[in-house]
Amino acid sequence: MTPETPHDETPHDETQHDNEHDNEHDNDALLRLATDLALRAGRLARDGRAERGISTADTKSSVTDMVTEFDKANEALIVGGILAARPHDAIVGEEGTDTPGTSGVDWLIDPIDGTTNFMYDLPGWAVSIAARTAVGTQVGVVYVPATDELFTATAGGGAHLNGTAISCSTTDEVSLALVATGFSYSAVRRALQAQRVAVLLPQVRDLRRLGAAAADLCNLAAGRVDVYFEQWLGPWDLAAGELIAREAGCLTSTLDGGVVRPDSVIAANPELIGPMRGLIAEIDVQLGF
Ligand code: IPD
Ligand code: CA
Ligand code: CA
Repeated sequence: MTPETPHDETPHDETQHDNEHDNEHDNDALLRLATDLALRAGRLARDGRAERGISTADTKSSVTDMVTEFDKANEALIVGGILAARPHDAIVGEEGTDTPGTSGVDWLIDPIDGTTNFMYDLPGWAVSIAARTAVGTQVGVVYVPATDELFTATAGGGAHLNGTAISCSTTDEVSLALVATGFSYSAVRRALQAQRVAVLLPQVRDLRRLGAAAADLCNLAAGRVDVYFEQWLGPWDLAAGELIAREAGCLTSTLDGGVVRPDSVIAANPELIGPMRGLIAEIDVQLGF
């Protein structure tokens, strides 16, 4: 561009300014909406379960993949809240929502991430809400009702836990790394994942299987674990937590170093992610994967 050319100069700069301004404003508004809905849904499920217990537990992809009335009620609350405020946005939710939109903003919702924890009354379940545009995830909110922890991030705005900035760990040695992972509901896939972690376990500090991918990524963001990896997630498991982890200083990728996708995820600080990917690749060769 030649800045002295009047045709290029003024209109271009004004447009750029407007877009930047709109983007900042939009992300703040999206964050407020996602936060409000995550808090309301998380409290609805936590308090409803405590008062009435769970009366409906159906299976989905396998006999151990459960959905309760609280998963469905949370999704309905979140989807209703988004559509009331932003009727032209697209929404995909784990419990079946697939609403097209025209605004350029799409939402990914996991109304209860960690349903098995929720069913057993273990504390590690979360509500996960992400808003994305064509240039990537703009807002991620993960609320953990049992501990009343609200993890938030906006693109370029850092990651926060209950309003305080968080950053990932600086552990740079694989042998000292506390590694979080998770397992698929498919028995065939679980068997492969079990083989891999059996070889990994003696080579790292320890493993954690906490039971909710979104919360795992937030624990990574807060420096409570050093690495997280998993395969075969849904997009709603990944979107919000992935932004929160990156905004806390992590890098994310597929297990073989490509652009992160739900079916292949690793996240860690920039020093650790390469060596960790290398170790997993070595194990996979050893196991013939
Ligand atoms: C599951 C949890 C779990 C992960 C599974 C997910 P759900 O989500 O995030 O930690 O290992 O891959 O499907 O079913 O509890 O929402
Ligand atoms: Ca999930
Ligand atoms: Ca879920």
